[in-house]
Amino acid sequence: MRREIRVMCGVRPTVVLLALAVAACARPVAAPVPSPGPATPVAGTSAAPAPAPAAGVAARPVAVVPNPNAPKVLVIATGGTIAGVQNAPGTLGAYRAGTLTAEQITASVPELARYARVETEQFSNVASTLVTPEMWVKLAKRINAVLQRGDLAGVVVTHGTDRLEETAFFLYLTVRSNKPVVVVGAQRPATGISPDGPINLLSAVRTAASPKAVQKGVMVVMDDRILSARESRKLYQRTGGFSTGDMGMLGVVASQGPEFFFAPVRRFGERSEFDLDGVDTLPKVELTMSYPGGTGHTFTTNPKGVVVATTGMTAAENATYRALRQTGVVVVTSFTSGENVNGGGGGDGPPPARVDTTAQRDPASRDSVARPAAAPVPPGVTALHLTATKARILLMVALTKTKDPREIQRIFNEY
Ligand code: SIN
Repeated sequence: MRREIRVMCGVRPTVVLLALAVAACARPVAAPVPSPGPATPVAGTSAAPAPAPAAGVAARPVAVVPNPNAPKVLVIATGGTIAGVQNAPGTLGAYRAGTLTAEQITASVPELARYARVETEQFSNVASTLVTPEMWVKLAKRINAVLQRGDLAGVVVTHGTDRLEETAFFLYLTVRSNKPVVVVGAQRPATGISPDGPINLLSAVRTAASPKAVQKGVMVVMDDRILSARESRKLYQRTGGFSTGDMGMLGVVASQGPEFFFAPVRRFGERSEFDLDGVDTLPKVELTMSYPGGTGHTFTTNPKGVVVATTGMTAAENATYRALRQTGVVVVTSFTSGENVNGGGGGDGPPPARVDTTAQRDPASRDSVARPAAAPVPPGVTALHLTATKARILLMVALTKTKDPREIQRIFNEY
């Protein structure tokens, strides 16, 4: 039975031609679906015995006439809730992310064939908390390679939402193409009540297939919104939970298709200077918070860079991170909310004066006693309107090119 459905839905060799077999392919995957690999329990859900994966996706009759001339879109699946299957399908209960395959996910949305000739590829099938920087590098290399294909309009990456914003921003920095790359996830598993995955996937594929999406960088498409990967964040764990704060919503996916109202103007895509050739791992960068009474963090992991989320450091924190800079570690400060536009020197004027809180608060640092000249302290770097999480990714990528904090400040000002 399963085999028949696959053949009729024709997702291998990957072109989704659902054609006249309309109702037959209409989300009928009632047969058990095999697990493509180790299923991954989602934090906060039951980790109890693996559900026999899985009663499939609920049937929904739909008539689809595929468009044989539609643009080609490659869907690369990595796992997540969009590929999640519940222990008890059709409930609000526990589920395992990264269970359904790329083929199963796309086959469950027959409407895709109206807008795109969809190909699929399974990159991984995991909860996104298992996604590593090494996987980012492999994924970006793969996308850079497939986008060389003249017949491919764009790429969709299906991904768990927990780490979606990080992967999307890494791709935004390192995919050197003007073709659309759309990252999409879901907050409800595919077998749940009102899953959001199918409509999100449809919107993502329509966006990746659209000529309007060219030159917009990597985007996150969820809940009918098109968000720039630079700004998108998971604000909460329900549908509608992805947002961009004050900046970064580029458009919407309306019933007639994607509509753009804004385009990013900072560096990305073809204008990115980051070349992953010869890069397999990224330099270690740690992330920490500053807080009242804080003395600064010391690290045993020998990082090449550190990002401190802060609205202003204590004197002790300043001293700790200055000492760290003196050892050659690049220290980036990022406003806690990620909404700061002061400090990077990225505008037309000179960088705003920084307040040296150590000099204000530490009497020892401003006495008049003559001291031997100390080695100059390498400057710190200020992130401009980036969350600390994203600043960490930009610093990891920047450190593949240079360790010079002035050059890294230039990078933060441009991307
Ligand atoms: C995950 O990030 O893999 C699980 C959570 C989700 O996709 O919403």
